[in-house]
Amino acid sequence: MMQEWFRKAKLGIFIHWGIYAVGDVSESWSFHNGGISYEDYMKQCDGFTASKFDAKAWAELFKKAGAQYVVLTSKHHDGVALFDTQYSDLSVVKKTPAKRDLIKEYTEAVREAGMRVGLYFSLIDWSDPRYRTVYPEGSNPQDHLKDVFATPAGGPEDPEKWQEFLEFNNNQMRELMTQYGTIDLLWFDGDWERSANQWKAKEFKEYLQSMNPNVIVNSRLQGHGDYETPEQGIPLLGPKGVWEFCTTINSSWGYRPSDNHYKTSRQVIRMFCDCLTLGGKLLLDVGPKEDGTLDERQVKVLEDLGQFIHDNEEAIYDTEKGLSYNQFLGGSTLSADKKTIYLFVYDRPSEFLCVKGVKTPVKRVSVLHTGEELTYDYTGSLPWSGIPGTLWIRADKMQMHPLVTVLKVELEGEITYNLGHGEVVTNND
Ligand code: GLC
Repeated sequence: MMQEWFRKAKLGIFIHWGIYAVGDVSESWSFHNGGISYEDYMKQCDGFTASKFDAKAWAELFKKAGAQYVVLTSKHHDGVALFDTQYSDLSVVKKTPAKRDLIKEYTEAVREAGMRVGLYFSLIDWSDPRYRTVYPEGSNPQDHLKDVFATPAGGPEDPEKWQEFLEFNNNQMRELMTQYGTIDLLWFDGDWERSANQWKAKEFKEYLQSMNPNVIVNSRLQGHGDYETPEQGIPLLGPKGVWEFCTTINSSWGYRPSDNHYKTSRQVIRMFCDCLTLGGKLLLDVGPKEDGTLDERQVKVLEDLGQFIHDNEEAIYDTEKGLSYNQFLGGSTLSADKKTIYLFVYDRPSEFLCVKGVKTPVKRVSVLHTGEELTYDYTGSLPWSGIPGTLWIRADKMQMHPLVTVLKVELEGEITYNLGHGEVVTNND
């Protein structure tokens, strides 16, 4: 169910933390795809210490980054729970030197810092033999002979065991939703390996809602989610309804020391602005090390993002999607009262910035973080014909923000548009 807090949220922090942070391998996929044996992958348990994990410090950093909610992997496709589950031995509490319920510390700290609490949970569990007892609906068993972690791989199906697996997931969900205070958001993953029918997705969702009627559920529940979650490739057009774009800071979800393909702060902020412009939100991923600390390059991006948001808050939090790219060659948002446009300027203009198709006259243009007023002019406008013309904002001399500069364009009233194909002027003055 869509809650107001989530509809309005602009930034979430995603955390992929698990035993995969020990070696230099990808989360779960590394053994699934044969990059490492299952045994070697699981040996990472011995090196997962969480020895410097400070949930409060995390929460403080995410808050400073401007986040309104946080989502942590409670269990990835490898099946290793970060919480103290009584339904399996496969948890960091029982199988690693960490010996702590990390979900407990995390949920408390995030809530205390005033952010909404989200949990990622993989429906897929490639470690549990019961998970492999049915084939993806409608598929040919012969096509799955190599899918050793996903399906019976040529063997017969066992619907009873599958039912047991679903109950196992239900039990773990009950633990998560009843022992850690209110969970505001559930972020499922891996639904694609089975159908809605096989997951019993409708009943599952009802079951979750019976524990928290207000819980928000992401889209990865075979048609039973509340919002869309495009991943890594930023959408060029906003998906329908409420959506959240999730992305990594380098190229990996979890910590990989060999991954130096970091995005710069400006790139990340640009992506954030792209999401806002199209009416979406950003869920930015960090991958903590096995000891619970973050790579300083990830911290830096979060701090810069926080700086940008802090300096330009009114252009971000209480806004809605902005102008189309046909109207302004850049990003933008619109204030809740629709009387102010905020323009995101990524590079120094060599002369003017221009805005097209806005009929309501401009009252004032300024640089948001300094208050500096900018001059502007219209060309081609014929107000009596409803033709707004082009608004030219002189912007070559303005003082830029070190990250992204925001211009505040105040209008005489609520925004109105003329977005046509142009018209013949039948009444010249
Ligand atoms: C992916 C992957 C995964 C990652 C996630 C994040 O498709 O299965 O490893 O956790 O989605 O969006």
